[in-house]
Amino acid sequence: MLVLGIESSCDETAAAVVDAARPVGKRILSNVVFSQWDAVRKYGGVVPEVAARAHVEKIDPVVDQALAEAGVSIADLDGISATTGPGLIGGVIVGASYAKALALGAEKPFLAINHLEGHALTPRLVDDVPFPFLLLLVSGGHCQTVLVRGVGDYQRIGTTIDDAIGEAFDKTAKMMGLEMPGGPAVEGLARRGDDRAVPLPIPFKGRPGTDFSFSGLKTAVRRAIEGDQGHRPEDIAASFQRVAFQSLIDRTRRAAQSIDDPLSALVVAGGVAANQVLSAELLGLGEELGLKVVVPPLSLCTDNGAMIAWAGAERLALGQPEAWFAQLDVAPRPRWPLDPDAPKSSGAGAAKA
Ligand code: KG4
Ligand code: ZN
Repeated sequence: MLVLGIESSCDETAAAVVDAARPVGKRILSNVVFSQWDAVRKYGGVVPEVAARAHVEKIDPVVDQALAEAGVSIADLDGISATTGPGLIGGVIVGASYAKALALGAEKPFLAINHLEGHALTPRLVDDVPFPFLLLLVSGGHCQTVLVRGVGDYQRIGTTIDDAIGEAFDKTAKMMGLEMPGGPAVEGLARRGDDRAVPLPIPFKGRPGTDFSFSGLKTAVRRAIEGDQGHRPEDIAASFQRVAFQSLIDRTRRAAQSIDDPLSALVVAGGVAANQVLSAELLGLGEELGLKVVVPPLSLCTDNGAMIAWAGAERLALGQPEAWFAQLDVAPRPRWPLDPDAPKSSGAGAAKA
């Protein structure tokens, strides 16, 4: 089952072809990602209008390359999926409209995919992970724990009440004058630092509930940078990273303990999952909880087309959509929660302690 997936919700123009009929490890036939690093560095972040224009320029060559590398043509495909939200709406419109036009021209099923669902199902692309499992989604825009019961069946357990953890990495990097994207820059610098040298508060550690918070830590980091204690940048980076992950692990442990369903695994997704220190900490947590831990390879942690193709394949396998044209009128959305029933944040104490 061949699916083309298109992703354009932030600053990556990406396309991939996945063959769901193949065994784990052999399913990705191509995975082309064009990252707008130059523009992000130039403007110090993602500028939605600049990003949307770059998507318009890149989408054609990126899709062509994905098809060519996979050695397939549009006619061979069983479906065409695209991120239809959430994300920067200009970019989402570019990718979704492009995919719809391809699908309409070839009379192939179009699948409107939620970007977060793409991240959530990625572990099943690369490993044998039955439902239900606990997902830790850590990216630039999201910081959530989600109970994944099935395709389209998600229950949010915890979420951030302010910043996402990737955002905290990016802001820390910016305050320290490091290159964007901030996550890899902070991780690289932290490798040379002493992670106990700078005293920083561990957000929400030991607090009841399962929510996250990172804005207080950001303020503490700013004080450490601007203060007169003469902290070395590598020590600030290492201390920030240790404390941020301690909080993340503490909240994830509480989320896992609040769930009665027998979980098959703890899986991590989103850009921050590329961090080696975090994956080591998660493996430790998995051992403690007796849970298998799945960390997708680096190239599948950050935004990519393969995760969108795979989510489309999972839906096709369930017989969705019933008619190839059924989702052509799904409108691109800037916001699209995985769990529409979840309260804005679960609030301290809302989940089981
Ligand atoms: O999932 P993603 O590619 O895009 C979305 O936000 O949807 O995640 C990007 C985020 C950025 O905030 C980036 O700084 C962070 O993931 N990131 C990292 C690392 N690599 C990327 N954070 C910490 N350590 C890393 N190695
Ligand atoms: Zn993402």
